[in-house]
Amino acid sequence: GGTLAIRARVLTYHAHPLGVGEGGSHRYIEDGLVVISDGLIEAVGEAGALLPDLALDCPVADYRPFLVTAGFVDPHLHLPQTQVVGSYGTELMEWLQRYTFPEETRYGDPAVADAASRFLLHELLRNGTTTAVAFCTSHPQSVESFFTESQRIGLRMVAGKVMMDRNAPEALLDTPRRGYDESKALIARWHGNGRLAYAISPRFAPTSTEAQLEATQALAAEYPAMHVQTHLCENTGEIAFVAELFPWSKDYTAVYERYGLVRRKALFGHCIHLSERERGALAEAGATAVFCPTSNLFLGSGLFDRDAALEAGLRTGIATDIGGGTSYSMLTTAAEGYKVLALRRQTLPGHAAFYMLTAGNADAIGYGDRIGQVAPGFEADLVVLDTHATPALRRRMERVETLEEELFVLMTMGDDRSIVSTYAAGRKVHARGTGGIDLPPR
Ligand code: GUN
Ligand code: FE
Repeated sequence: GGTLAIRARVLTYHAHPLGVGEGGSHRYIEDGLVVISDGLIEAVGEAGALLPDLALDCPVADYRPFLVTAGFVDPHLHLPQTQVVGSYGTELMEWLQRYTFPEETRYGDPAVADAASRFLLHELLRNGTTTAVAFCTSHPQSVESFFTESQRIGLRMVAGKVMMDRNAPEALLDTPRRGYDESKALIARWHGNGRLAYAISPRFAPTSTEAQLEATQALAAEYPAMHVQTHLCENTGEIAFVAELFPWSKDYTAVYERYGLVRRKALFGHCIHLSERERGALAEAGATAVFCPTSNLFLGSGLFDRDAALEAGLRTGIATDIGGGTSYSMLTTAAEGYKVLALRRQTLPGHAAFYMLTAGNADAIGYGDRIGQVAPGFEADLVVLDTHATPALRRRMERVETLEEELFVLMTMGDDRSIVSTYAAGRKVHARGTGGIDLPPR
């Protein structure tokens, strides 16, 4: 890989475990330069200070007056749900049975998984998202497909084969043995292969027998540093079902605790209806709660309590949850997050939101040391943002005075039209108005 530089307004957040309150710790450079070498950020500073030392043949992409920040991180979404977004009229358990499970059975066909992987990754890049943590289906081929396409583009991605052995259509069920063996084979092939990492992925307690949770516990014990992803306390009907299925358990979280799944880099989607005990247990283990606002609104699941999470010291991310979620855009996701919190008389200022989309989500998935910041030594995953991309944005921005306001309006009114370009490991992988560029052939 060569050397290149990006000239723009530069914005970055510093790792700030457990999130930020009002504002947080950021660095902003009005006329900045980001120097990239071999896929890593080599230097960040004032253009005036860095340009004289730049090699004469170093290409400089001049993006002024656009804003460059770290590529967005989406810590919870589903590869096989791009064609169930906006399925009408149900809440969680019926939505799964009526729309989602039948759709996921199609992913036994590699051609279906390949087409979905190409679509999803391209759509994420069009929205400025450079890293995601993804549930595939119970078919190992769906993970093969997702990782193959991620590697071709050069993305840092985390994904896993869903394990589920009850309460779903036969065609989606594995067994404790098969779930374990298929996960292990995928780990051997993909985990740590370039920028890819495997996530141990029991779908959620209702779709695993205790025998499968035991096998999952064994797998997790073999890989103590590996991501775990599942769902927790999303919907009151779901929670009642868990109480029925696991009568010995004092609450939902205790099921996952019993099987050794509550730990660092364990990502729990939703976490809406947690008790204080559960919040404390998740926090103490260093686990992560993932707030999925568009999904929680669309499925009528409830309102995430961010202040309680902060209070408990519980690490929190924010994610799209495609396809319970309804937008691929992390800008829209933050905007809907703000509205959910507003209903709780809580808040999410502009800087806190952009912190969450970048360094915060990176930290939430255990990657706060390599992505999520525009800083030397970090991987050069970047997004270039046009805060004036639409007539409505231009009109509104006329009355904006501070960077904080500009960011807040961008998240509230912005979408994929504000994504000028996206870089992964220093390569331009999306340019607005084109079909994606600088990619190796398929
Ligand atoms: N809980 C278990 N599976 C799912 C899923 O696919 N989507 C959502 N939103 N919740 C779940
Ligand atoms: Fe989900």
